[in-house]
Amino acid sequence: MEAPKTDLSVSHLISIADLTRDDVALIFRTAAEIKADRYTAPKFLSDKRIALLFEKESLRTRVTFDVGIQDLGGSAIYLDHQEVRLGQRESLKDIARNLSRWMHGIVARTYRHRTVVDLAGYAEIPVINGLTDYLHPCQGLTDFFTMQEIWGSVEGRTLAYVGDGNNTCHSLIHAAACLGTNIRVASPEGYEPNSKVVNHAMRTAEKSGAEISILEDPAEAVDGADAVYTDVWASMGQEEETEERAEIFAAYRVDDDLMKKARSDAIFLHCLPAHRGHEVTTEVIESPRSKVYQNAENRLHLQKALMLLLLAK
Ligand code: CP
Ligand code: NVA
Repeated sequence: MEAPKTDLSVSHLISIADLTRDDVALIFRTAAEIKADRYTAPKFLSDKRIALLFEKESLRTRVTFDVGIQDLGGSAIYLDHQEVRLGQRESLKDIARNLSRWMHGIVARTYRHRTVVDLAGYAEIPVINGLTDYLHPCQGLTDFFTMQEIWGSVEGRTLAYVGDGNNTCHSLIHAAACLGTNIRVASPEGYEPNSKVVNHAMRTAEKSGAEISILEDPAEAVDGADAVYTDVWASMGQEEETEERAEIFAAYRVDDDLMKKARSDAIFLHCLPAHRGHEVTTEVIESPRSKVYQNAENRLHLQKALMLLLLAK
Protein backbone atom coordinates (compact mmCIF):
# COMPACT_ATOMS: atom_id res chain seq x y z
CA MET A 1 0.00 0.00 0.00
CA GLU A 2 1.03 3.61 -0.52
CA ALA A 3 1.12 6.22 2.25
CA PRO A 4 -2.21 8.12 2.27
CA LYS A 5 -1.95 11.46 0.48
CA THR A 6 -4.49 13.46 2.44
CA ASP A 7 -3.60 14.95 5.84
CA LEU A 8 -5.69 14.92 8.98
CA SER A 9 -6.95 18.30 10.20
CA VAL A 10 -5.40 17.65 13.65
CA SER A 11 -1.84 17.01 14.87
CA HIS A 12 -2.88 15.08 18.01
CA LEU A 13 -5.70 12.64 18.72
CA ILE A 14 -7.25 13.87 21.95
CA SER A 15 -10.98 13.67 21.21
CA ILE A 16 -13.16 12.46 18.35
CA ALA A 17 -14.95 15.81 18.71
CA ASP A 18 -11.83 17.44 17.18
CA LEU A 19 -12.10 15.36 14.00
CA THR A 20 -14.01 16.17 10.83
CA ARG A 21 -16.05 13.58 9.03
CA ASP A 22 -13.35 13.54 6.32
CA ASP A 23 -10.71 12.83 8.99
CA VAL A 24 -12.68 9.82 10.24
CA ALA A 25 -13.27 8.57 6.68
CA LEU A 26 -9.51 8.83 6.00
CA ILE A 27 -8.66 6.98 9.23
CA PHE A 28 -11.15 4.19 8.38
CA ARG A 29 -9.92 3.89 4.78
CA THR A 30 -6.33 3.68 5.95
CA ALA A 31 -7.20 1.14 8.66
CA ALA A 32 -9.02 -1.06 6.12
CA GLU A 33 -6.00 -0.98 3.78
CA ILE A 34 -3.65 -1.77 6.63
CA LYS A 35 -5.87 -4.66 7.73
CA ALA A 36 -5.95 -6.08 4.20
CA ASP A 37 -2.15 -5.74 3.90
CA ARG A 38 -1.52 -6.84 7.44
CA TYR A 39 1.72 -8.77 6.93
CA THR A 40 3.15 -6.85 4.01
CA ALA A 41 2.42 -3.20 4.82
CA PRO A 42 5.50 -0.98 4.36
CA LYS A 43 7.44 0.03 7.47
CA PHE A 44 5.87 3.46 7.64
CA LEU A 45 7.24 4.09 11.16
CA SER A 46 10.80 3.01 10.38
CA ASP A 47 13.20 4.84 12.77
CA LYS A 48 10.28 6.34 14.75
CA ARG A 49 10.27 5.97 18.53
CA ILE A 50 7.03 6.21 20.48
CA ALA A 51 6.58 6.57 24.25
CA LEU A 52 3.69 4.68 25.83
CA LEU A 53 2.98 6.63 29.01
CA PHE A 54 0.43 4.77 31.14
CA GLU A 55 -0.96 5.82 34.54
CA LYS A 56 -3.60 3.07 34.42
CA GLU A 57 -3.73 -0.63 33.66
CA SER A 58 -4.23 -1.93 30.12
CA LEU A 59 -4.15 -5.05 27.99
CA ARG A 60 -5.60 -4.07 24.60
CA THR A 61 -4.33 -0.49 24.31
CA ARG A 62 -0.80 -1.26 25.43
CA VAL A 63 -0.40 -4.42 23.36
CA THR A 64 -2.04 -3.09 20.19
CA PHE A 65 0.05 0.08 20.19
CA ASP A 66 3.25 -1.85 20.92
CA VAL A 67 2.55 -4.52 18.28
CA GLY A 68 1.33 -1.88 15.80
CA ILE A 69 4.54 0.15 16.23
CA GLN A 70 6.69 -2.98 15.75
CA ASP A 71 4.70 -4.07 12.68
CA LEU A 72 5.30 -0.66 11.11
CA GLY A 73 9.05 -0.79 11.81
CA GLY A 74 9.16 1.61 14.78
CA SER A 75 10.06 1.08 18.43
CA ALA A 76 8.07 1.64 21.61
CA ILE A 77 9.20 2.48 25.13
CA TYR A 78 6.68 1.71 27.86
CA LEU A 79 6.74 4.09 30.82
CA ASP A 80 4.45 3.34 33.70
CA HIS A 81 3.28 5.71 36.39
CA GLN A 82 5.64 4.33 39.05
CA GLU A 83 8.57 5.33 36.91
CA VAL A 84 7.55 8.73 35.59
CA ARG A 85 5.02 9.89 38.19
CA LEU A 86 3.48 12.50 35.91
CA GLY A 87 3.44 15.89 37.57
CA GLN A 88 4.93 14.54 40.82
CA ARG A 89 8.56 13.61 40.16
CA GLU A 90 8.65 16.14 37.35
CA SER A 91 6.27 18.67 35.85
CA LEU A 92 4.14 17.66 32.88
CA LYS A 93 5.72 20.47 30.90
CA ASP A 94 9.24 19.15 31.44
CA ILE A 95 8.20 15.57 30.69
CA ALA A 96 6.62 16.68 27.41
CA ARG A 97 9.61 18.81 26.44
CA ASN A 98 12.13 16.07 27.27
CA LEU A 99 10.22 13.38 25.39
CA SER A 100 9.90 15.72 22.40
CA ARG A 101 13.74 15.72 22.09
CA TRP A 102 14.06 11.92 21.91
CA MET A 103 10.79 10.53 20.66
CA HIS A 104 8.47 10.99 17.67
CA GLY A 105 5.14 10.48 19.43
CA ILE A 106 3.44 9.84 22.78
CA VAL A 107 0.51 7.57 23.57
CA ALA A 108 -0.84 8.53 27.00
CA ARG A 109 -3.39 6.85 29.29
CA THR A 110 -4.11 9.08 32.27
CA TYR A 111 -6.67 9.64 35.00
CA ARG A 112 -7.36 13.33 34.46
CA HIS A 113 -8.29 14.36 30.94
CA ARG A 114 -6.49 17.65 31.53
CA THR A 115 -3.19 15.75 31.76
CA VAL A 116 -3.44 14.55 28.15
CA VAL A 117 -4.61 17.97 26.95
CA ASP A 118 -1.65 19.64 28.70
CA LEU A 119 0.82 17.04 27.40
CA ALA A 120 -0.34 17.80 23.87
CA GLY A 121 -0.04 21.53 24.57
CA TYR A 122 3.58 21.26 25.76
CA ALA A 123 4.82 18.50 23.42
CA GLU A 124 6.35 19.21 20.03
CA ILE A 125 5.37 15.72 18.86
CA PRO A 126 1.92 14.15 18.31
CA VAL A 127 0.07 12.91 21.39
CA ILE A 128 -2.54 10.15 21.16
CA ASN A 129 -5.10 9.79 23.94
CA GLY A 130 -5.09 6.13 25.05
CA LEU A 131 -7.96 6.76 27.52
CA THR A 132 -8.67 9.30 30.22
CA ASP A 133 -11.43 9.47 32.83
CA TYR A 134 -13.40 11.51 30.27
CA LEU A 135 -12.74 10.01 26.82
CA HIS A 136 -11.56 6.88 25.01
CA PRO A 137 -11.23 8.04 21.39
CA CYS A 138 -9.17 5.10 20.03
CA GLN A 139 -11.94 2.83 21.32
CA GLY A 140 -14.80 4.89 19.89
CA LEU A 141 -13.12 5.11 16.48
CA THR A 142 -12.48 1.37 16.45
CA ASP A 143 -16.08 0.59 17.48
CA PHE A 144 -17.40 2.56 14.51
CA PHE A 145 -14.78 1.08 12.18
CA THR A 146 -15.98 -2.39 13.20
CA MET A 147 -19.63 -1.45 12.68
CA GLN A 148 -18.79 -0.05 9.25
CA GLU A 149 -16.89 -3.23 8.42
CA ILE A 150 -19.94 -5.31 9.34
CA TRP A 151 -22.67 -3.14 7.80
CA GLY A 152 -20.86 -1.32 4.97
CA SER A 153 -22.01 2.05 6.35
CA VAL A 154 -22.89 3.34 9.82
CA GLU A 155 -24.99 6.28 8.64
CA GLY A 156 -28.64 6.05 9.71
CA ARG A 157 -27.99 2.96 11.87
CA THR A 158 -28.91 2.97 15.57
CA LEU A 159 -26.50 2.16 18.40
CA ALA A 160 -27.90 1.57 21.91
CA TYR A 161 -25.45 2.11 24.78
CA VAL A 162 -26.65 0.65 28.07
CA GLY A 163 -24.88 1.50 31.33
CA ASP A 164 -22.53 4.08 32.78
CA GLY A 165 -22.21 7.41 30.94
CA ASN A 166 -18.41 7.07 31.06
CA ASN A 167 -15.31 7.71 28.91
CA THR A 168 -16.22 4.99 26.38
CA CYS A 169 -19.80 6.24 26.17
CA HIS A 170 -18.61 9.83 25.59
CA SER A 171 -16.38 8.82 22.67
CA LEU A 172 -19.20 6.75 21.17
CA ILE A 173 -21.49 9.79 21.35
CA HIS A 174 -18.86 11.97 19.63
CA ALA A 175 -18.34 9.38 16.88
CA ALA A 176 -22.07 8.82 16.32
CA ALA A 177 -22.70 12.55 16.01
CA CYS A 178 -19.82 12.93 13.54
CA LEU A 179 -20.85 9.98 11.35
CA GLY A 180 -24.64 10.37 11.32
CA THR A 181 -25.37 7.30 13.45
CA ASN A 182 -28.29 7.49 15.88
CA ILE A 183 -27.26 6.82 19.47
CA ARG A 184 -29.55 6.08 22.41
CA VAL A 185 -27.91 6.00 25.83
CA ALA A 186 -29.71 4.44 28.81
CA SER A 187 -28.16 5.14 32.22
CA PRO A 188 -29.44 5.29 35.80
CA GLU A 189 -30.18 8.76 37.14
CA GLY A 190 -26.94 10.42 38.21
CA TYR A 191 -24.81 8.31 35.83
CA GLU A 192 -25.80 9.96 32.56
CA PRO A 193 -23.12 11.06 30.07
CA ASN A 194 -21.57 14.48 30.63
CA SER A 195 -23.83 17.27 29.38
CA LYS A 196 -20.93 19.03 27.60
CA VAL A 197 -20.40 15.92 25.47
CA VAL A 198 -24.11 15.61 24.75
CA ASN A 199 -24.54 19.30 23.88
CA HIS A 200 -21.51 19.27 21.59
CA ALA A 201 -22.82 16.12 19.90
CA MET A 202 -26.28 17.65 19.45
CA ARG A 203 -24.71 20.56 17.57
CA THR A 204 -22.60 18.24 15.40
CA ALA A 205 -25.67 16.09 14.76
CA GLU A 206 -27.50 19.03 13.21
CA LYS A 207 -25.15 18.61 10.25
CA SER A 208 -24.79 14.82 10.19
CA GLY A 209 -28.44 13.99 10.84
CA ALA A 210 -27.70 11.74 13.85
CA GLU A 211 -30.39 11.48 16.53
CA ILE A 212 -29.04 11.53 20.07
CA SER A 213 -31.27 10.38 22.93
CA ILE A 214 -30.36 10.25 26.59
CA LEU A 215 -32.77 7.90 28.38
CA GLU A 216 -33.17 5.97 31.59
CA ASP A 217 -34.95 2.85 30.32
CA PRO A 218 -32.66 0.21 28.71
CA ALA A 219 -35.60 -1.40 26.85
CA GLU A 220 -36.48 1.94 25.24
CA ALA A 221 -32.86 2.46 24.16
CA VAL A 222 -32.48 -1.03 22.70
CA ASP A 223 -35.86 -1.16 20.91
CA GLY A 224 -35.13 -1.90 17.24
CA ALA A 225 -31.40 -1.02 17.56
CA ASP A 226 -28.77 -2.32 15.14
CA ALA A 227 -26.10 -2.64 17.84
CA VAL A 228 -26.11 -2.90 21.63
CA TYR A 229 -23.04 -1.72 23.54
CA THR A 230 -22.10 -1.83 27.19
CA ASP A 231 -19.03 -1.21 29.35
CA VAL A 232 -18.05 -1.91 32.96
CA TRP A 233 -20.17 -0.30 35.66
CA ALA A 234 -17.12 0.83 37.66
CA SER A 235 -14.26 2.17 35.57
CA MET A 236 -10.59 2.27 36.53
CA GLY A 237 -10.28 4.61 39.50
CA GLN A 238 -13.83 3.83 40.72
CA GLU A 239 -13.03 0.43 42.23
CA GLU A 240 -14.27 1.53 45.68
CA GLU A 241 -17.74 2.11 44.21
CA THR A 242 -17.99 -1.39 42.69
CA GLU A 243 -20.54 -2.79 45.16
CA GLU A 244 -22.69 0.32 45.29
CA ARG A 245 -22.74 0.52 41.50
CA ALA A 246 -23.59 -3.21 41.14
CA GLU A 247 -26.89 -2.44 42.92
CA ILE A 248 -27.61 0.78 41.06
CA PHE A 249 -26.89 -0.77 37.64
CA ALA A 250 -28.56 -4.17 38.20
CA ALA A 251 -31.39 -3.36 35.76
CA TYR A 252 -28.84 -2.35 33.11
CA ARG A 253 -27.35 -5.81 32.50
CA VAL A 254 -27.33 -6.76 28.81
CA ASP A 255 -28.94 -10.22 28.73
CA ASP A 256 -30.84 -12.29 26.17
CA ASP A 257 -34.16 -10.67 27.09
CA LEU A 258 -32.78 -7.20 26.42
CA MET A 259 -31.08 -8.31 23.18
CA LYS A 260 -34.45 -9.65 21.96
CA LYS A 261 -35.74 -6.06 21.90
CA ALA A 262 -33.07 -5.10 19.35
CA ARG A 263 -33.27 -6.04 15.66
CA SER A 264 -33.03 -9.79 15.09
CA ASP A 265 -29.63 -9.29 13.40
CA ALA A 266 -28.34 -6.77 15.96
CA ILE A 267 -24.73 -7.12 17.05
CA PHE A 268 -23.31 -6.82 20.57
CA LEU A 269 -20.18 -4.81 21.36
CA HIS A 270 -18.13 -4.14 24.50
CA CYS A 271 -14.76 -2.38 24.71
CA LEU A 272 -13.45 -5.03 27.15
CA PRO A 273 -12.42 -5.94 29.80
CA ALA A 274 -15.88 -7.40 30.49
CA HIS A 275 -17.34 -8.62 33.75
CA ARG A 276 -19.58 -11.53 32.79
CA GLY A 277 -22.69 -11.70 34.97
CA HIS A 278 -22.47 -7.98 35.74
CA GLU A 279 -22.92 -5.60 32.79
CA VAL A 280 -23.31 -8.49 30.30
CA THR A 281 -24.30 -12.13 30.62
CA THR A 282 -22.02 -14.92 29.40
CA GLU A 283 -24.76 -15.98 26.94
CA VAL A 284 -24.72 -12.60 25.21
CA ILE A 285 -20.96 -12.04 25.09
CA GLU A 286 -20.34 -15.60 23.90
CA SER A 287 -23.17 -15.55 21.32
CA PRO A 288 -22.61 -15.27 17.54
CA ARG A 289 -24.03 -11.72 17.78
CA SER A 290 -21.08 -10.67 19.86
CA LYS A 291 -18.32 -9.00 17.82
CA VAL A 292 -16.08 -8.16 20.76
CA TYR A 293 -12.99 -10.00 19.51
CA GLN A 294 -13.29 -8.71 15.96
CA ASN A 295 -13.48 -5.29 17.57
CA ALA A 296 -10.46 -5.95 19.81
CA GLU A 297 -8.44 -7.03 16.75
CA ASN A 298 -9.48 -3.85 14.98
CA ARG A 299 -7.88 -1.73 17.72
CA LEU A 300 -4.57 -2.80 16.15
CA HIS A 301 -5.47 -1.81 12.59
CA LEU A 302 -7.22 1.43 13.54
CA GLN A 303 -4.35 2.63 15.73
CA LYS A 304 -1.77 1.75 13.08
CA ALA A 305 -3.76 3.98 10.73
CA LEU A 306 -3.78 6.76 13.32
CA MET A 307 -0.03 6.53 13.88
CA LEU A 308 0.64 6.43 10.16
CA LEU A 309 -1.47 9.55 9.60
CA LEU A 310 -0.11 11.47 12.60
CA LEU A 311 3.52 10.34 12.73
CA ALA A 312 4.75 9.00 9.43
CA LYS A 313 5.23 12.43 7.90
N1 CP B 1 -10.61 -1.55 25.70
C1 CP B 1 -9.44 -1.18 26.23
O1 CP B 1 -8.99 -0.05 26.09
O2 CP B 1 -8.79 -2.17 26.90
P1 CP B 1 -7.54 -1.97 27.85
O3 CP B 1 -8.01 -1.20 29.05
O4 CP B 1 -7.12 -3.38 28.22
O5 CP B 1 -6.47 -1.24 27.13
N1 NVA C 1 -14.67 2.59 31.15
C1 NVA C 1 -13.55 1.67 31.26
C2 NVA C 1 -12.95 1.42 29.94
C3 NVA C 1 -11.82 0.43 29.94
C4 NVA C 1 -11.25 0.19 28.59
C5 NVA C 1 -12.53 2.24 32.22
O1 NVA C 1 -12.23 3.44 32.13
O2 NVA C 1 -12.03 1.51 33.07
